[in-house]
Amino acid sequence: MDYPGLALVIASCLLFGFLAYRSIKAGRRWVQLAAGIPCVLLALLFGAATVLALVGYAKLSEQHPNPVSQLTVVSTPAMIANGERFARSCAGCHSANGNLPLSGHNFFGSDGPPIGTLWAPNLTPAHLADWSDGEIIRAIREGVGRDGRTLMVMPASSFRNLSDEDVLSLVAYLRSQPAVEPASPPRQISVLGAILLAIVPPDFFLSAQPPLSSAVIAPPRGPTAAYGGYLTRIECQGCHAANLAGGPAGEGPPPGPNLTTIPQWVTADEFVTLLRTGRFPDGRLIGPNMPIKYLEKMSDDDIRAIYAYLRQGGVLPDNK
Ligand code: HEC
Ligand code: HEC
Repeated sequence: MDYPGLALVIASCLLFGFLAYRSIKAGRRWVQLAAGIPCVLLALLFGAATVLALVGYAKLSEQHPNPVSQLTVVSTPAMIANGERFARSCAGCHSANGNLPLSGHNFFGSDGPPIGTLWAPNLTPAHLADWSDGEIIRAIREGVGRDGRTLMVMPASSFRNLSDEDVLSLVAYLRSQPAVEPASPPRQISVLGAILLAIVPPDFFLSAQPPLSSAVIAPPRGPTAAYGGYLTRIECQGCHAANLAGGPAGEGPPPGPNLTTIPQWVTADEFVTLLRTGRFPDGRLIGPNMPIKYLEKMSDDDIRAIYAYLRQGGVLPDNK
């Protein structure tokens, strides 16, 4: 919690409240109007800011009852390679250059809005060595941190679809990385950040999900629509929307366009080329906000599976 910032907002509320009281008491009409009205308004404004900031901080410090996952990793080279497929898409946030290893990155950046410090932390053994497998898995799939509080911005609503086997592979991969320093600073949200948390819809900023109570099993891996649906829930829906007919514009990531029309004019082979090279059959390049690097470690059959899923779903009108 940003105690100095909060103290300043509360002090401002009290100060303007006091000034308002004094001006109204002054008895002279022009003082009451010229000083009293602005002071009343400012006192109300800072009062509202205090309440909203406290609501925001309460959301952040709420304890979530999600139990730590009971899964434990028995690492093999095959699992590490499988996990790296998914780790590729963590690098957009957890790495400064968008590449592996996941050495951590300042999410808001230094020139972002003054909403505080939020790092997508270092996920190499330098930071995670003393976390249990279950704690890491809960953070990834349920968006709950080690201290039982919600994580922010971490897309657990997508990752909760990761099967037990794939999330175990992902943790095996995380643990196989070189231990890269430095440590990431802890989260520190400013009063302005807390106010925003109180007023924007929580789905993007607050990550905590309901507990996963049963095993999560993926369809068999292969170029099938069923497996493609599984992959899109983890890798694509966060930006292109649940029905893949175009991402909702909002406070979240850059919205991606409608994908359901693609099989109308792109073959499966061309789709593989598109997501490998960023080039459409007509030579046009995919826009820079589409992170094709996320798919670098996916196999051609994984990409064909996504295509099969898009084709099976048919064309949908663009989401509004
Ligand atoms: C959209 C950006 C984004 C993506 C993509 C993302 N994360 Fe995160 N992640 C974050 C942020 C930001 C935090 C810190 C949240 C906080 O401190 O409240 C975080 C926190 C975590 C934590 C908890 C670390 C700690 O010290 O509390 C783990 C574990 C984690 N992420 C794993 C992953 C994995 C694995 C992936 C890929 C499968 C991934 N994340 C993808 C943004 C992201
Ligand atoms: C971080 C957000 C994000 C994720 C995750 C994402 N996309 Fe995109 N995608 C975009 C954006 C944004 C565009 C539009 C390009 C631009 O604006 O620069 C796009 C464009 C595309 C296009 C080109 C569509 C066209 O008609 O121009 C395809 C194909 C595509 N994405 C497929 C996928 C697939 C398949 C996945 C999952 C494996 C995926 N995307 C995951 C954001 C994303």
